[in-house]
Amino acid sequence: MKRKVEGFIFDLDGVLTDTSEFHYLAWKRIAEELKIPFDREKNENFKGVSRHECLRILLGGRNPGSSSFEKLLALKNSYYRGYIKRITPESLFPGVLNVLDRIREKGGRIAVASVSKNTDEVITMLGVRDKFDVILDGYSVKRTKPEPDQFLLASKMLSVVPGCCVVFEDSLAGIEAAERAGMLSVGIGSRERLNSADLVFNGFDEIEFNIMIGKLVEILTYEHRL
Ligand code: BG6
Ligand code: MG
Repeated sequence: MKRKVEGFIFDLDGVLTDTSEFHYLAWKRIAEELKIPFDREKNENFKGVSRHECLRILLGGRNPGSSSFEKLLALKNSYYRGYIKRITPESLFPGVLNVLDRIREKGGRIAVASVSKNTDEVITMLGVRDKFDVILDGYSVKRTKPEPDQFLLASKMLSVVPGCCVVFEDSLAGIEAAERAGMLSVGIGSRERLNSADLVFNGFDEIEFNIMIGKLVEILTYEHRL
């Protein structure tokens, strides 16, 4: 029996646009102020992880001293919001619009599901708000990725069963969440790092839409998920 892929769920940061870099720059400033070593490799573990959890990881049991935990969270966000001021529709990664339009043409339902509490603003600045049937941000669920809650909520709001949804993600936390939700996953980024995803592309401009859908349907048909 053949199943259709009908629900398309997109992470935001590092998938639709390069805001992962802005998160990195903001955390780097905080780390420097606290004199905590921080580099791009450490930042990999921050992808898909909530602001609160990122700070807990960064502090690694250290006492934040005179600057309280809440103040540091607010400071990180103010640095981040300084960087995102430069976002325009040109900041969308190449190929994203094309994939969104192809999904629409085929009658697919589309959601964005991000842990970021700045999702609404970023999506609006990118000029793609009306491309999504459902927008879920860091306020939408209590338990964030790698828990499957947000993707399951997206599937419910799209009215597409989890087994017919595919998640586009750049983070390991997000790919794990997709798997735990019983969904297909497409990694966007390095093949080496994202090898737990069902398919991996360096970027959306590498995606041949019909070929990708064909491969996903094959996985649905022959794997236990059917
Ligand atoms: C995720 C990013 O999308 O959002 C994380 O991958 C980030 O790096 C998280 O920490 C929370 O974002 P915000 O905007 O609420 O601080
Ligand atoms: Mg991401």
